[in-house]
Amino acid sequence: MAQLWGGRFTKETDKLVYNFNASISFDQKFYEQDIRGSKAHVAMLAKQGILTETEKEDITKGLDGILEDVRSGKLEITSAYEDIHSFVEANLIDRIGDAGKKLHTGRSRNDQVALDMKLYVRDEIDETDGLLKKLLEALQKIMEENIHTYMPGFTHLQKAQPVTLAHHVGAYFEMFVRDRSRLADIRKRMNTCPLGAGALAGTTYPLDREYTAQLLGFDGPTRNSMDSVSDRDYVIELLSAFATIMMHMSRFSEEIILWNSNEYRFVEIDDAYSTGSSIMPQKKNPDIAELVRGKTGRVYGALTSILTTMKGIPLAYNKDMQEDKELTFDAIDTVKGCLALFTGMVSTMQFHKKNMEASAKNGFTNATDAADYLVNHGVPFRDAHGIVGRLVLTCIDKGISLDELSLEEYKEISPVFEEDIYDAISMQTCVEKRMTIGAPGPEVMEQVIAQNRRYLEEN
Ligand code: ARG
Repeated sequence: MAQLWGGRFTKETDKLVYNFNASISFDQKFYEQDIRGSKAHVAMLAKQGILTETEKEDITKGLDGILEDVRSGKLEITSAYEDIHSFVEANLIDRIGDAGKKLHTGRSRNDQVALDMKLYVRDEIDETDGLLKKLLEALQKIMEENIHTYMPGFTHLQKAQPVTLAHHVGAYFEMFVRDRSRLADIRKRMNTCPLGAGALAGTTYPLDREYTAQLLGFDGPTRNSMDSVSDRDYVIELLSAFATIMMHMSRFSEEIILWNSNEYRFVEIDDAYSTGSSIMPQKKNPDIAELVRGKTGRVYGALTSILTTMKGIPLAYNKDMQEDKELTFDAIDTVKGCLALFTGMVSTMQFHKKNMEASAKNGFTNATDAADYLVNHGVPFRDAHGIVGRLVLTCIDKGISLDELSLEEYKEISPVFEEDIYDAISMQTCVEKRMTIGAPGPEVMEQVIAQNRRYLEEN
């Protein structure tokens, strides 16, 4: 049991207490960030004349050696150390002797862990952003290929008006663009460096905090040392953005599960992304979509958990905050894993375009357009609504769609109808006449797709 703080104690820590308190089993995940931060700290200490150049070089070389050996598996991070900070420091002293004991000058584990966590979160924001971009590229491809693929648009899960697959997928494109911009906001807001805040009140050493901030790619140092060591807002913001990403993927998954069912048959999930049943030979289950939908719960759980942990903590650092790590790491793994699999699933999925179009036709999705036809011929909208309602009832009775009624049947209900009604309610007219910004008409969709392309090139 290697501890950094034995001096004041006369008794060994109880083994159970030691295990309860230790964080090495999970904070070993950011050994790279811990070493990156220490190297910057040491460079600054030397620049300020607090360490000699030789000490700096020895420490830096020692830290690089530890990094290399952990990466290659030569050096194992074990539970003999309380946390990753103790592990690195103890190993450094083993390697280079007394100079290693100076690493922690003007620093506390409180500003150190705040830095490590920020560096880790920042790296993971960049990774997640890259995965979101890949998903957007997959969606963009589906949009490009499906400007004229008609399908029913739903409200209340009832067929409402015809749209296109490009338009439907375009809605998700918007969501994932917002997700990326949320991550970018968080990254910008969190990008201040806590190193040099010490335990809570700064230090009496003449540290150059601007310098370490710059070395580590931050916009500048944090402004209040107590806030620096007790701020986990960026973790909350990250988990909130992650919860939203999962919510978006979960809604899409739910639709894919429906579309993949025998009742819809809009899509066929690729064999590589489905599984079978141990008893029912006919089954091809959408497990990936179901797991994405299911795992949304654990990311929501992480957000609720950290919000609750933080709510009662007095300033400044308290050990409660160690609880931020496992749940954040789990959420990061979950979101990244789901994004990668979800992208694979949607980009290999087959669309049954004929079934989509037939479904749009059979569900009276052109009823609004039939009413609009009457309005264009001088019938007040409310009367038109009633007339088309009666037409729909006739169709339901006969088991046919609106375009299968004869002109006589139309005229029986309203003499205003003429031969051109069939053209007015064709899927093509219904969709292609919707040309306002944001609508599914092909011309506006072309514009959206061009804007998307530019966005993907620039972001
Ligand atoms: N393992 C601790 C954490 O994750 C590191 C900071 C410990 N600081 C302290 N004063 N005990 O928060």
